[in-house]
Amino acid sequence: MGTGLDKINKLLEHTEGLRRSFRNFNFSPDNIKRDERRYSLKEAQELVGRSYQAIRDAENDGRLSPPETGTNGRRIGFTLSQINNMRDIFGTRLHRGKKDDPVILAIQNFKGGVSKSTVACHLAEFLAKQGYSVLLIDCDSQASTTTTFGYIPDDDIDENETLLPFLREEAETLAPYIRKTYWDSLDIIPSNLMLYQAEYELASKPSASSFTLLREGIETIQDNYDVIILDPAPALGMISLNVIYAANALLIPMPPAMYDFSSTISFLTMLKNSMESLERHLGPIEYKFVKILISRYDESKSAQQALVDLANDQFEGSVLAAKLRDSAEIASAGNRQRTVYELNSPITSPKVHNRCLNILDSVNKEVELLIRRSWASHAKSLREAGLD
Ligand SMILES: Nc1ncnc2c1ncn2[C@@H]1O[C@H](COP(=O)(O)OP(=O)(O)OP(=O)(O)O)[C@@H](O)[C@H]1O
Ligand SMILES: [Mg+2]
Repeated sequence: MGTGLDKINKLLEHTEGLRRSFRNFNFSPDNIKRDERRYSLKEAQELVGRSYQAIRDAENDGRLSPPETGTNGRRIGFTLSQINNMRDIFGTRLHRGKKDDPVILAIQNFKGGVSKSTVACHLAEFLAKQGYSVLLIDCDSQASTTTTFGYIPDDDIDENETLLPFLREEAETLAPYIRKTYWDSLDIIPSNLMLYQAEYELASKPSASSFTLLREGIETIQDNYDVIILDPAPALGMISLNVIYAANALLIPMPPAMYDFSSTISFLTMLKNSMESLERHLGPIEYKFVKILISRYDESKSAQQALVDLANDQFEGSVLAAKLRDSAEIASAGNRQRTVYELNSPITSPKVHNRCLNILDSVNKEVELLIRRSWASHAKSLREAGLD
């Protein structure tokens, strides 16, 4: 028997050990997550935008450090930090121009489980891999993004290391909460369960500033970044309202399933109402782009295709051409607390892995293009490449 609380306590009794065993399982031998991805010379040429010979010449004359080698002396490959170093040396690193605004992109939908965090983590790593400076802010107390980056949120992260103290107005800037990740050029502000406190605290004393805190915080650090990605909770709470106000671009993942479709329409209605009320008090909210991303797509299901067609009709021009398909590789990588970009070798099969990478790249490249189109300093090179 026992009370409801007794029953919950019983469920929780063993979870402490369980969480640690995930970490032992995923990050042996020392429980620390690292970027183990190494890039071949061929990949380096593509990423850096310079020929094999130019890279070899720079290695030979000492401008570049050579890639890691294995015990047998064979080249294992370049780290992302070496790739970014090459870009700096060759002058091929893409950044926004000094007068361009950083893009502050919220991956938002009030519906749960639609791939928000999956998209946020893969996009952040993709953009950092292209050389941009990226900050990923985990705005969700469920902290899936924080977990992906190798933390057990409620063990490794103190509440004072999340957005919480800033939202409590205990700090002047977001700078102290930013930490480097193992992924070069990508920083994170982590989260944990305690961030939920901010929902109660901000709601209990609502004033105009309760909705503008995140934007004000981002303004204190945005000069250091090209792109800032916000991963909010699937709910219309105070933090989500802060996210809506802080963002200057919006990506809405939506699986092509009836319930997800209708909840996305409800989300858009709630978003409109919230934005109208925020604008009444705070002035206009400008978004550089608002796009729907079809997520969790399974082309073998004809009903899904019908919903994709419907979405393209209804949201004409606002649905990304690339769709994030449901992929066993994404699910398997997620179970190992990894993104697909972090894998050095396939978990499922080479075919599924490569197809998945192509899908992720095509989604992320489309978002990258939207970002670059918002930067006046990129207009000329986009025009020359026929991408404007
Ligand atoms: N394209 C995909 N293929 C396979 N699995 C996926 C895909 N996208 C997401 N998943 C899996 O679905 C689950 C939910 O995804 P995710 O956490 O990204 O959703 P979310 O919208 O952030 O959820 P929440 O609303 O709870 O924050 C995760 O286990 C993730 O690995
Ligand atoms: Mg999430």
